[in-house]
Amino acid sequence: MQVILRTIGDCNIRRAEPSDLISIMEINLKTLPEHYSDYFYESLLAELPEAFIVAEIAGKHVGYIMCKTEFGFSNFKKLGFVKKGHVVSIAVLDEYRKKGIGNALVKESVNGVKLRKCDEFYLEVRCSNNEAVRLYEKYGFIIKQQLNAYYRDGEDAYLMAIELD
Ligand code: ACO
Ligand code: ZN
Repeated sequence: MQVILRTIGDCNIRRAEPSDLISIMEINLKTLPEHYSDYFYESLLAELPEAFIVAEIAGKHVGYIMCKTEFGFSNFKKLGFVKKGHVVSIAVLDEYRKKGIGNALVKESVNGVKLRKCDEFYLEVRCSNNEAVRLYEKYGFIIKQQLNAYYRDGEDAYLMAIELD
């Protein structure tokens, strides 16, 4: 059964299901240079369905966020070993941007990783991706590191992270 987590105007925000994955892959192909195998999408959905969220308007998929969990060194505490949520990818189709959908996807994924008792949430983003950096900063993510030549084309990434309570 589909459970609507929130609505923004006519847009429903809900957890993804296996039948959503093809449309999500299509959004990814249209919006981002980083692509993944079918298996990778399936495994993220199987591992962390709480933070694999879609945005849908009248049956059309317009955005998604997908995440995973990891154990590793804290981005905040010296010598701390913590459970971290990791945003693998988020995108909203161009014509549906600037309506708050991206913000809602981040919010619901934060709720999802909190359900899984993550201490922190982090992501990498292109340094030139002002829209995304602003979205994360508004939400409280902090730039913790600059990762040199992180992307295949040589661009640097910011590692941005937030502590969860
Ligand atoms: N009316 C006008 N403006 C609005 C409204 C509204 N009703 N609601 C929100 N906005 C504004 C926000 O205030 C924000 O403005 P600001 O950037 O000037 O502060 C802006 O719209 C964007 O916020 P949202 O609408 O919440 O986000 P959006 O749905 O546009 O999605 C995203 C943002 C996902 C980054 C989008 O630009 C995108 O898909 N980009 C391409 C893919 C991408 O770069 N993804 C991130 C890569 S990094 C990673 O995946 C880990
Ligand atoms: Zn990453």
